Amino acid sequence: MLIKERIEGIFPEAGEIPAEARVTPLEQKDHLIDGRIKAWTGPRQEVYSPVCLRGRKGPERVRLGSYPLMTEKEALEALDAAAKAYDDGKGLWPTLSVEARIAHMEDFVWRMKEKRAEVVKLLMWEIGKSADDSAKEFDRTVEYISDTINALKELDRNSSRLSITQGIMAQIKRSPLGVVLCMGPYNYPLNETFTTLIPALLMGNTVVFKPPKYGVLLHRPLLEAFRDSFPKGVVNTLYGQGRRIIGPIMKTGKVNVLAFIGSSKVSDVLRVQHPAPHRLRCVLGLDAKNAGIVLPDADIDLAVSECITGALSYNGQRCTALKILFVHRSVQSEFIEKLVNGIEAVKLGMPWEPKVKITPLPEAEKPPYLAEVIADARKHGAKVINDCGGLTNGTFVYPAVVYPVSPKMRLWSEEQFGPVIPVVPFSDVKEPLKYVVESNFGQQVSVFGRDPDTIAAMTDTLVNQVSRVNINSQCQRGPDVFPFTGRKDSAEGTLSVSDALRVFSIRSLVAAKESDANRKLVRGILRGRKSKFLSTDFIL
Ligand code: G3H
Repeated sequence: MLIKERIEGIFPEAGEIPAEARVTPLEQKDHLIDGRIKAWTGPRQEVYSPVCLRGRKGPERVRLGSYPLMTEKEALEALDAAAKAYDDGKGLWPTLSVEARIAHMEDFVWRMKEKRAEVVKLLMWEIGKSADDSAKEFDRTVEYISDTINALKELDRNSSRLSITQGIMAQIKRSPLGVVLCMGPYNYPLNETFTTLIPALLMGNTVVFKPPKYGVLLHRPLLEAFRDSFPKGVVNTLYGQGRRIIGPIMKTGKVNVLAFIGSSKVSDVLRVQHPAPHRLRCVLGLDAKNAGIVLPDADIDLAVSECITGALSYNGQRCTALKILFVHRSVQSEFIEKLVNGIEAVKLGMPWEPKVKITPLPEAEKPPYLAEVIADARKHGAKVINDCGGLTNGTFVYPAVVYPVSPKMRLWSEEQFGPVIPVVPFSDVKEPLKYVVESNFGQQVSVFGRDPDTIAAMTDTLVNQVSRVNINSQCQRGPDVFPFTGRKDSAEGTLSVSDALRVFSIRSLVAAKESDANRKLVRGILRGRKSKFLSTDFIL
C-alpha cells in the first residue's frame, strides 16, 4: 500500500479495535490525601486519547474518561498533608528505620505489579505509546524500584559503622530533606515520575505528586497501593492545571525539593515562586537537542539504524532523542538514501499493533507546530526529502526528513520533540562541534565513525559539553544505573539508581569526642538499639 493511502486510512473504526486492546472510560472522582482516597465532586477534566476513530467528519479522538480539576484549596491541603506527615522531620516516615521503609516499598511494588495490565493499557491509550513500549515502561519502573531498594541497602550497609578520626567518633548517614513535589513528563508519565518519587520516598521524604498533562488516568489504579503501603500523608496526589495549583504550593515555601521533568521555561517559573529559593533543592530533567554526528568513515548502515531508532522511538518524543543529524558531505548521499529507505520500512499504525513504531501524538498543538517548523525550513531553502514526510492526518504525523538544515531555521535550535529529522551537511568536523558548544542544551551526543584518533579527540572535546557521549550508538537514558544528567539548559542534579538516593537526602552525622563517658554513652545507645540513626545494624 502507498504511504499516502496508509496514512489516510491510519485510524480504525470502533469495530476494528481488537477486543484485548479495547478500553472502558475511567471517570476518576477521587484523589489520595492524608492516607485516604477522598471523593471529588468538583469539575473534571475530560481525557481524550491521541488515538482517533475514523468518523464522517474526519478523525475523532477516543474519549478515555475524566479526572479531578483541583483548585488552589485542594493543592494546599495536599501540601499540608505531606508537611504534617513529615512534621519537621519528626514524623513517623522520616524517623522510620531504612529497613522498615524498604519493607513498605516492597509491599507497594507487590501491589503495583497486580495492576500491570490496567496501567499498561491506560498508558497506551493516554499517550499513544505502543503496547510493547508501554509494557516496557511498566517493567522498567518495577525493576528501577527493586534496583533502588538494593542500592539503598548497600548505602545503609556502608554507613552502618562508626569512624574515629582525630579523637572524634562519628556515624555518617543520609537524612531526608522534607516535602518533595514530584512532577514527571507526558512521554514517560509512569517511569520518569517514579524515578523521582520512589527514591524521594525511600529516603524518608513525604511527597505531593502531580501527574503530567497527558498520562493521568494510568496512575489511578495505583492509588489504593499507595494508600495501603505507606503511612498516611506520605503520598498525596494532585490533578489539574499546573498554573492554578502548583504556583500556590511553591509560594508557601513548604516545598523542600522540586523534582520536575519538563521544560526549562516552566521550571524557571516554578522555582522563583519559592519565597526562599536558596532553601529549595531542584532535581530537574529539562530540554535537549541531542546531535548525531556522522563522520566520513562511519559504518553507514549502523549509523542509519541507530539514527532512526534514536530520532523516531516513540515518535521522537523523548528528551534523549536525536533531534539534529550532522552528516559529512562525503557520505551524505549514501546516508540520506538509506535513511529515507529505512524510514519507509518503519511500521506506522495504532499503538496496539505488533511492532508498530510511529503512532498518533497526544499534544493537540504538536501537528500544527511541526507543520510550522517544516514550513519555516522550506522558506529558508530546505526540502522534505522523503515521500509523504510531514503528511498529517488528525493526530498522526508521518516522519519528515528535512534537508539541508541551516542556522536560520527554527529546526536548527528548537527542540521539535516529534517525528521530524533535520539533517545538516558538513565538511569539517569543527562545524558540528561548534554547534554543540554554542547550543543552549547539553544533554548527550552520538558520534558515528571508526578512526580511534578522531573518535578520541572528539570525545575529549564533547565530554566537556554534554553529559554522555555515545559512540556508534543512539542517545538514551538507560541502563538506569548510569548517571542521567545534562549541562546548560538540559538538567540540574543527576539521576540514576544510586544518584537519586543522594539527591533526595543530605548527609547528617552524629559526632562525639572520644572520652570514656562518651564511649559508654554511645555503646549504651548502640547495644540497647535506642536510636534508628545511631545504629550499627546491618541490613541483610
Ligand atoms: O524523555 C527522556 C527519557 O528519560 C529518555 O529515556 O532514553 O530511555 O528513552 P530513554
